[in-house]
Amino acid sequence: MSIYFDEEKKLFKLDTDHTSYVIGLSEEGYLGHAYYGKRLKDLGGKYLLRMEETPYTPMTNKREKSGFLDCFPMEYSTGGIGDYRESCLNVRNEQGCVGAEFFYSSHEIRKGKPKLEGLPASFGTEEEVETLRIICKDAILGLEVELMYSVFAETDVITRSVRLQNTGTETLYLDKVYSACLDMDNRDFEMVSLFGSWGRERHMQRGSVRYGKQMVSSICGKSSHQEHPFMALVTPDANQEHGEVYAMNFVYSGNFIAQAELSQFDQVRMVMGIHSEQFCWKLIPGASFQAPEAVLVYSAEGLGKMTRSFHDFYRKHLIRSPYKYKKRPVLINNWEATYFDFNTEKLLDIAREAKRCGIEMLVMDDGWFGKRNGDDSSLGDWTVNEEKITGGLPELVRKVNEIGLEFGIWFEPEMISPDSQLYREHPDWALQIQGREATQIRTQYVLDITRKEVRDYAYECVAKILRSAPISYVKWDMNRQLTDMGSYSLASDQQQELFHRYVLALYEMQERLTQEFPNLLLENCSGGGARFDPGMLYYSPQIWCTDDTDAIERLRIQEGTALVYPLSVMGAHVSDCPNHAVGRTTPFMTRGHVALAGTFGYELDITKISEEEREQIPEQVELYRKYHHLIQTGDYYRIASWSDRKPYDCWEVAAKDASEILVTYVQVLGRTNTHSRNIRLKGLDPLAQYRLEDTDEIYIGEELLNCGFLVRDVFGDFQSRLFHFIKCN
Ligand code: GLA
Repeated sequence: MSIYFDEEKKLFKLDTDHTSYVIGLSEEGYLGHAYYGKRLKDLGGKYLLRMEETPYTPMTNKREKSGFLDCFPMEYSTGGIGDYRESCLNVRNEQGCVGAEFFYSSHEIRKGKPKLEGLPASFGTEEEVETLRIICKDAILGLEVELMYSVFAETDVITRSVRLQNTGTETLYLDKVYSACLDMDNRDFEMVSLFGSWGRERHMQRGSVRYGKQMVSSICGKSSHQEHPFMALVTPDANQEHGEVYAMNFVYSGNFIAQAELSQFDQVRMVMGIHSEQFCWKLIPGASFQAPEAVLVYSAEGLGKMTRSFHDFYRKHLIRSPYKYKKRPVLINNWEATYFDFNTEKLLDIAREAKRCGIEMLVMDDGWFGKRNGDDSSLGDWTVNEEKITGGLPELVRKVNEIGLEFGIWFEPEMISPDSQLYREHPDWALQIQGREATQIRTQYVLDITRKEVRDYAYECVAKILRSAPISYVKWDMNRQLTDMGSYSLASDQQQELFHRYVLALYEMQERLTQEFPNLLLENCSGGGARFDPGMLYYSPQIWCTDDTDAIERLRIQEGTALVYPLSVMGAHVSDCPNHAVGRTTPFMTRGHVALAGTFGYELDITKISEEEREQIPEQVELYRKYHHLIQTGDYYRIASWSDRKPYDCWEVAAKDASEILVTYVQVLGRTNTHSRNIRLKGLDPLAQYRLEDTDEIYIGEELLNCGFLVRDVFGDFQSRLFHFIKCN
């Protein structure tokens, strides 16, 4: 049992293996957040609701209701009645007034976890997860809110989501619906978030939480390059091993907000949900609205433990693809090799050489359809360009298969080029505000996939191609933000639903794809990594991490990404040098070692690189074959992050049974007059002996853990080493 309700104390206690989460009821039936943190043996923490402190409770002193609401740690805050901190829910009635107030009505505790209608969400067996549903009611509005908590004990995760049901007779407008709220006393919290840009996604940022509100968000229709639906509040001492961490991550791929607010009473309110900008959901009597899921992790052992909880959780309870623990085919993608300039012969040349080097799949990227020889046409016209692909697509696939490679293909199904047959026939299929010329980004518009006929067309374009030939892999790209949010199919009081409806439509399309082609390896992508989020992981076991393939730039991008997401989901390729994004030249070996921390593949013209580099490919592919299992299933530890003071980067993956570890060390910059570097390893059995592979060096586990391992003789910039330790007793 992970969930208890104490009738007498009116307390809910949710326990994972190492954490407890306590919800209490006030006398009136407000739901208050009492405690989240280290596991408590007994029921405790109710006094944190501070019911006995001034300014009293509304029951005893109605005059001070607003004072009470302004500091009561609400489990789910609502706007309009006197809690001036961030509200999670704003409801407008038919008179146009905003106000909602919820009181406990009933609850249910059950094994397992129900699905969230139309949304990606975590799952588990009845043995793995238990779910609490608390129903609260606002009798005036005739509105029910169901707060759902699922407890995944083993991975130390609690998920939250919210469902609203209009049980009244009035139409209601939901101006804001967040998914999670956490009110706590401040402990000098600092906020950790992931920021970025195109080609620079998910860099870690940390700073103290100040009075007022600090947020990260996206309003561009996807989780974005710039900010990320993740936030952690950490105590100032928090590092990889120590300190407290409260983290939230959002299982959603559209507009979001994650915010921390420090109030006048030194309380912190942390919230996460769909961004309320340009959001309003019309809820007619009888209708319901399901908000997406937020994943909560508390760690008393620093960021490292938080990371490992997220990794285990996503691997076990979110990714569904049959590939999640499988070796992925080592692929070669022709994007950086040829861009739009390719034809059958070129692709087959690449395929033949790739086969000789042990590569297993050819992926044909953008430029194979319509008359697309640049990025300014043909999106929407998904018929193969036979001038380039002579003999048609099935014939190309057959030839690639004959060479001994699987075949993969690129699509951007959500888009429409103004210069396309599709746009000429259906200009109204693009998102647009009537009477206003829509904004082009990368010379393209966005299809209004919220319309069934448009969605069906876009889906069929992809499916038809997949049905026509044995295609093993699809890269589903999305290369622009959403603008001009207007749909011909929505009434004026529902246009503000469009951002969310778009995401639901996308999910529906990807669900259809995974149902019809269950063995397809799907990789999501969005101008690099602008839709790298847990929502997409539900459909694809890997996501293209960034368009920046430079091994050194990738260190920080992959570090930030791996803070939350398992290495098995990070699309990572070895590309050519000077690197196309930054012009840097790094050793081929380093590029291989860095890409090994992800799905591993190539993106270069293998027919043109030097013989010396080409010769390294079979060895690198062998490394992937040898280590993929460890990298996909092991525990990830961050050992060092490079900076001006520390010119090297280091991470490690340890087998869960401590039988082996793989350490990747990258010396970013060489330095004169330095000793060997001492790195302390993790995840080992202290009493066991470990042999460093390819040497006769033997270490006791406790030596590597406490004394550290010495990295010697690394000379030069951008140099890397792999160290594989194997338990030998
Ligand atoms: C995006 C992707 C790239 C490539 C191009 C093709 O930028 O991230 O990998 O597929 O689109 O246009």
